[in-house]
Amino acid sequence: MLADFYVERLVGVLERMPIERAVLDLFCELTLAAGLGGEVADVGCGTGRLLPYLAGRGLSPRGADLSPGMVRVATRDHPGFTIEQADLRSLPYPDASLAGVVCWYSLIFLPPEARPAAFGELGRVVKPGGHLACAFKDGDGTLRRDGAATKLLGVNFDRYWLSAAEMEERLAAAGFATVFRGGRPPEEGEIVPQGYLIARRVAA
Ligand SMILES: C[S@@+](CC[C@H](N)C(=O)[O-])C[C@H]1O[C@@H](n2cnc3c(N)ncnc32)[C@H](O)[C@@H]1O
Repeated sequence: MLADFYVERLVGVLERMPIERAVLDLFCELTLAAGLGGEVADVGCGTGRLLPYLAGRGLSPRGADLSPGMVRVATRDHPGFTIEQADLRSLPYPDASLAGVVCWYSLIFLPPEARPAAFGELGRVVKPGGHLACAFKDGDGTLRRDGAATKLLGVNFDRYWLSAAEMEERLAAAGFATVFRGGRPPEEGEIVPQGYLIARRVAA
């Protein structure tokens, strides 16, 4: 099953990616420094691999993912965390209830028509002064269906290489101000630059 394939594929990946860890570390530090508590959500958490990492840096993360299979393996592999099936477009959290949200390569699955609702939800659930961290494939909005998983599994994934400019525009429209923007060239096995943004929810 696809979720188990991802579990195996992602073993040790974060440990080998100091840039990704550095961005997540910055998110953790900014979140704790904001003084809004440590309740954060990893939305599109997939296998849940980031949950122990965030918890190890002082946060109290919960996970959410659209895929029941991902929720199943994340719950199996990380039993100490609350992990729910949920859609970015309709998050199961009260207004202004979270000190932060992580969207690590999950926003790239949103088709254009779904983006306003999803970014709006992120703005709704994050407390003013709270933070959002996201990783994405930095491109021109092109739809991709021919990724490594497609080749290996024969499954089509609609993914979009969203430009950093579009990400920032959509975050701004949802009430976020950029506090960090970064990127790196593709590394081995990647074919597109990776983008990283951290943004702060401004007061309503
Ligand atoms: C590339 S995986 C990344 C998983 C995890 N963030 C990580 O870094 O390992 C993207 C995840 O986003 C989830 N996803 C896609 N669309 C979603 C949506 N609309 N709402 C919530 N999760 C979604 C997928 O099910 C998948 O688990």
